[in-house]
Amino acid sequence: MVYITDDPLILKNIVMKDISDINVVDVHLTARSYKIYIGCNLNEQIADFIADYYGDKSLFILCDTSVEELYARPLTEALRAKGVNAPHIYSVPSGEQSKSVHIYADCLSWLVQEGAKRDSLIIAVGGGVIGDLAGFVAASYMRGIDFIQVPTTLLAQVESSVGGKTAINIPEGKNLVGAFYQPKAVFCDSAVLKTLPMRELRAGYAEIYKYGLLWDSAFMAWLEDGHAEALLKHDLHAVHYAVKRCCEIKAEIVSQDEREGGVRALLNLGHTFGHALEALCSYDDRLRHGEAVAIGMCLAARFSAKLGYLSSADVEIIEAHIRRVGLPSQYADIPDAPEITVDDMMKVMAKDKKADAKGINFVVMQALGRTKVTSSYAADDLHNVLHEFLN
Ligand code: NAD
Ligand code: GLY
Repeated sequence: MVYITDDPLILKNIVMKDISDINVVDVHLTARSYKIYIGCNLNEQIADFIADYYGDKSLFILCDTSVEELYARPLTEALRAKGVNAPHIYSVPSGEQSKSVHIYADCLSWLVQEGAKRDSLIIAVGGGVIGDLAGFVAASYMRGIDFIQVPTTLLAQVESSVGGKTAINIPEGKNLVGAFYQPKAVFCDSAVLKTLPMRELRAGYAEIYKYGLLWDSAFMAWLEDGHAEALLKHDLHAVHYAVKRCCEIKAEIVSQDEREGGVRALLNLGHTFGHALEALCSYDDRLRHGEAVAIGMCLAARFSAKLGYLSSADVEIIEAHIRRVGLPSQYADIPDAPEITVDDMMKVMAKDKKADAKGINFVVMQALGRTKVTSSYAADDLHNVLHEFLN
């Protein structure tokens, strides 16, 4: 089947095999527009795309050690079968510690040593850590070279690979150094989720539920109606629909507000609380990012109720759902959680990137599926919610 793109980037026909089985979501950003492809076993389509647009360029796969053999090497084979240049592969250790200045510098040195040019392509194969790292490498190498995202975690497919936020961490804080830099395409392959540990799948699910809560009550109802459990059991229909709906919502939001001057801030629902918990747990294995978001959404729900927006029945719907899918909903659910006080939480939240002169901004739920950002609340209300949460 011939698929005709209206992508302003390249006005030509792309021949994509089995495109009828692939969902395509457009991210409209004028000259930086791109497409998100969602389907199962996409290596051939990824190779077609690369052969069409970068077939005579040098290719660089950045991945982590967990996915190198599983997904980076098979993609290399698919590219070889198309007769394009074999990509160079650089594999970094799995985990958050790879979003460091040190590893970032190693990646840049590797690109220089392997002869990467301004027209080379970086292919990010991995979870959110790799997407954020490879994206920032691409944004900064020779003042910016093209990259595509091949996200291999559910979290990366529904959230981090879309929208162009790239970053690394410094000792002073997470994601403090980065750039808004959009990929040229994103390929969400449901087949890769089969090897993802259940804990990671659930962590990704937290971000899926977030889209329902913040934007789309009908999607939330669909998730409540057994589809959450179905997608956690790898039901392909459920996975594809959920990934597509999340990407559609994120594309709509990012297309309106690429650099988070307004509506994009809603995507941070649960994150101000969640980031503080991640920091207080030293970003270690006790708390995955998605798990922190799950607890953060429960806190955001309680705070929204305290401010008079949600009913206690709404809060219970949210907390019950989060518990039902096996995600943590309260502080006591964090294994070996450090002993912390309300002041500890407040101090970390005050350093949040979204804090401004008016104070800490929170995304609150006005109703299920409807959110807004607010900095107008009584300090006592926030204090009381945190006190109840920690005691
Ligand atoms: P991750 O990248 O660390 O992946 C989680 C674990 O799963 C790792 O051990 C990884 O090696 C392994 N893995 C990945 N794919 C696998 C697969 N298919 N099979 C088996 N194992 C696999 O973590 P994550 O949860 O994907 O991403 C978290 C990161 O994303 C954080 O650094 C966070 O800050 C960032 N993030 C960025 C954005 C954004 O908009 N850029 C949004 C949300 C989160
Ligand atoms: N992860 C939030 C955003 O992309 O804006």
